[in-house]
Parts: sequence; C-alpha cells; structure tokens
Amino acid sequence: MLRFDIVTIFPEFFGEVFDFGIIRRARAAGLLSVRAHDLRHWTHDKHHIVDDRPFGGGDGMVMKPEPIFEAVEELTGEKAGACPAGTRVVLLSPQGKRLTQALAQELSAADQIVVICGRYEGVDERVAQTLITEEISIGDYVLSGGEPAAVVLVDAVTRLLPGALGSETSALTESFATGLLDYPHYTRPPEFRGMRVPEVLIGGHHGEIERWRQEQALEKTKKNRPDLLE
Ligand code: ADE
Repeated sequence: MLRFDIVTIFPEFFGEVFDFGIIRRARAAGLLSVRAHDLRHWTHDKHHIVDDRPFGGGDGMVMKPEPIFEAVEELTGEKAGACPAGTRVVLLSPQGKRLTQALAQELSAADQIVVICGRYEGVDERVAQTLITEEISIGDYVLSGGEPAAVVLVDAVTRLLPGALGSETSALTESFATGLLDYPHYTRPPEFRGMRVPEVLIGGHHGEIERWRQEQALEKTKKNRPDLLE
C-alpha cells in the first residue's frame, strides 16, 4: 500500500478529486491511500499563521519553515532529514526537477510520499535544504500553488502501481514508456463527416497495422515533440 500525505493550506481543494477512475479503484483495492492535511494544524499561534515577509525585502510572502517541519516529522514519524528508506518527501514548486514518467515510476516503489504544496511567493529554503528528498515541478509554467501539481503527481504515480491498471492496458506500451508519443486511435464509425479511418486499420493485417502505428508514432513525435527524438 502506497500512502500519500498531502500537506496544504487548502485541504478542501482535494474534496472529491481522488474519487474517480483508476485512483478510486486503487484506493478501494487497498493499493493506495491519499490524505490531505491542513498545514495550519501544525501552527501554535492564535491566528494559525503559515507565512511571513521575506528577508531581504521584495514582494509577496514566504511560507514559514516551522509548521512544515513539524508536519513532515509527525507524518513520517522521524526527525527532519532522517526519513526512513521507502519514504519520499516531495516539495512541489516551479524550481523543482521535472516530473517525468521515469521519476513517476521511481516514486511508485515508495511506501509513503509526503507532498508539500507551496503557496505564496515561495517556501523558506531551509525546507528544500534539509527536509525533503526532492523538489519537483510538473512543467515549465507557474501555478498559483502546488495543489493542482499534487493531483497530477498522485495520478501519474498511482497508475504505475502494480495492479492499478486493468490487465487490458499496460503502462509499458504507453507514451513516454516507449520514448515516443502514442500512435493515433480510431473507433467506429468508419466514416464520420467525410473523414475516413485509415484503410490499413480496417484490413486486419496485424504486421501492417503494427508498422503503420510505429510510423505514425514517429510522425507525431517529430511534429509535436522533436526534443524527445534527440
Ligand atoms: N507550484 C507552482 N508551479 C508549479 C509547478 N509548475 N510544478 C509544481 N508545483 C508548482
């Protein structure tokens, strides 16, 4: 069972987002647990303050280290920086290393993943220095917080858990696992608004279909993601 513990100032954000499809089934099958925790639970002041002004000046607020350290220590049961093998502590921010299929695969072997959602202008750097095992970005754009990225991370990792996908689908043949984008798919009707399904797919010749799919995957990759071919 992989346990996700998401630390956030917006626990309600995650309301029903993990109650659908593969994630719902993985939870029901006992492969996965996902819980969102309110960071303010680990504050000790009357106003539950989680941010403060930046040293050195500048706009915006910075998330304070103390509640984040306490949250991770309670959730992992270990002192900061001493997290057990099998436990990953992830800070989501645009400054992280890129989330890739390979990284999702690696994370899917963990027992516990604590996910810290950044907010405001940033997170006190001592969190990145000593508390986490990795800082991850889901892409080269800036979200207003790590919460949508946490949903992406849980989804990408969950579908790689052994038994999460039905036997009819395999994570091994999907986009990125092969190094190429996926080939195009068609279903009925064979002609729709003047657009015909490629004849080769209707012919039933498995060798030709396989060759066509490989060509198409390569074409799509050249067009949309030439960087993958380098
Ligand atoms: N928080 C803000 N932007 C982000 C991104 N691109 N990835 C992960 N967390 C983020």
